[in-house]
Amino acid sequence: MPVNVVYPRIVSIGAGAVGELGAILRQLGLSRPLIVSDGFLRQQGLVGRVADLLRAEGVEAGVFTDTVPDPTTASIDLGLAALKGADYDSLIGLGGGSPQDTAKIMAIMHVHGGVVRDYKVPAVADRAGLPVIAVPTTAGTGSEVTRFSIITDSESDEKMLCAGPAFVPAAAVVDYELTLSKPLRLTADTGIDSLTHAIEAFVSRRANPLSDTFALAAMKIIFANIRRVCAEPGDREAREQMMLGSMLAGHAFTNASVALVHGMSRPIGAFFHVSHGLSNAMLLPRVTRFSAPAAETRYAVCARTMGVAPAEASDADAVAALLTALDLLNLDLQVPSPRAYGVPHNRYFDGIDIMATQALESGSPGNNPRVPTHAEICELYREAWD
Ligand SMILES: [Fe+2]
Repeated sequence: MPVNVVYPRIVSIGAGAVGELGAILRQLGLSRPLIVSDGFLRQQGLVGRVADLLRAEGVEAGVFTDTVPDPTTASIDLGLAALKGADYDSLIGLGGGSPQDTAKIMAIMHVHGGVVRDYKVPAVADRAGLPVIAVPTTAGTGSEVTRFSIITDSESDEKMLCAGPAFVPAAAVVDYELTLSKPLRLTADTGIDSLTHAIEAFVSRRANPLSDTFALAAMKIIFANIRRVCAEPGDREAREQMMLGSMLAGHAFTNASVALVHGMSRPIGAFFHVSHGLSNAMLLPRVTRFSAPAAETRYAVCARTMGVAPAEASDADAVAALLTALDLLNLDLQVPSPRAYGVPHNRYFDGIDIMATQALESGSPGNNPRVPTHAEICELYREAWD
């Protein structure tokens, strides 16, 4: 069966890539971008630096920095109002996954209207909006290359997965120097998120030879560097590798989708304001244990690729080594359980039924090698508590 893959038209990667922004806009025939970022990055001076860079190239950019972590429908409305205010022809999503996801859905809704829920899966957005140039500052969500945007409903707290080729940015500017100042917790959480993308893409029922190539390369690079980058945040070589790994993992999952870990992690993030990478990390070892019997060979390849099992290890031994390695990684990176994180016990257990329903509705569990029932997801949430 043929597979359809999607990529940005231009990817600029490497130290100093952000300096290419003006040239990329010219290449795309764009001249009036709105920078979509957050208050923290504005305060840090990055938004001003990018605006100055563009001004030096004769481009006057608008600035919107009222995006929020885990973007909400209310924050998208604010962004859309800002976008309407002038004759912008493009958006620059500058920041972690949240500003990028915000820019991506704003670009589509500005042109095609509707409300965010109209774009929730199983809807497929295939009509292009304004062009987006994605500039990630974490490694990362991979949002700079993916056909996804995740937006939380301000009323119901549901994290809605929105998908389609129209969400793929026109260009990605992947400059690891922008990640050098990121603190340990953010580095660890975003790093585990990208490792989860690689593993889930590889075991996904929608995996294909192209996504496999990206997934294996990504997990090898990420696993080899994640402890190093957390131990020494200024390690340029490790930062560069993590940025490359994160983008490759993005290429993998945009073409193969993520699976049960992401399906279950979104409701935890939405209800208890746990960061996306951290809620994935809380679930990754346990969900892998649940899923492994249905795809032992694939998980064994992950173990050998990540170097946690020797090439000659049996599949069963390799899978056992992978489970141990994921537990150890969480321990080393100090990933808390929901209980240790401070999630209220009653709200967590009362919420399991609706979290399981939302996980299933996202469609991601359907890509899992072992497709869970609602009851099995509930049980996994109970097991993940502590
Ligand atoms: Fe993710």
